[in-house]
Amino acid sequence: PAPAAMPVDPEQAWAALQDEVRDCMACGLCKGRTQTVFGTGSPKARWLLVGEAPGEQEDKQGAPFVGRSGKLLDSMLASIARSRQQDVFIANVIKCRPPGNRDPLPEEVARCSPYLMRQISLINPEMILVLGRFAAQTLLETDARIGSLRGKVHSLSVSGRQVPVVVSYHPAYLLRSPAEKIKAWQDLQLALSVGRARG
Ligand code: URA
Repeated sequence: PAPAAMPVDPEQAWAALQDEVRDCMACGLCKGRTQTVFGTGSPKARWLLVGEAPGEQEDKQGAPFVGRSGKLLDSMLASIARSRQQDVFIANVIKCRPPGNRDPLPEEVARCSPYLMRQISLINPEMILVLGRFAAQTLLETDARIGSLRGKVHSLSVSGRQVPVVVSYHPAYLLRSPAEKIKAWQDLQLALSVGRARG
């Protein structure tokens, strides 16, 4: 049989994807990075959280959301009895740090987002929580503002499956605008209701 017809062991596919991302040189961001940031958590997690791209701390430590935004994200998860170690997988659209934390360029998104799609396909999460404008607009392929994307359940088609998507603010924005944390709390409640609805 042709190799493409052979069943692929999910753990092998996951390890292969990790290796590919670690060694990726598909765009110019590879030149400035300390290391790639694949994501953290269990690939068996029921929730996938998606941010934009590694910042300075993430680039140094090789893990997503380890700076100030990450601390806030951890306490938001704790407030709904979830933890990054056990309950979620956290990844970014872009796996390498853009210089000076600038917005990723369309070419960088085009090269990198297939990795995220493969992560989604292998994790097969019950729900994706998208953090911030950039990740939301990229994943949902829209120019709509984050305020209008919040508060409803979107759907993303990945490998023939419809995955529910909830959009919330980026924790870095919440650090700047703490009054908006109430809306992020509402977003988490919506995310929890998606899991319950799907049993
Ligand atoms: N901001 C992001 O979007 N992702 C990270 O991993 C860190 C900060």
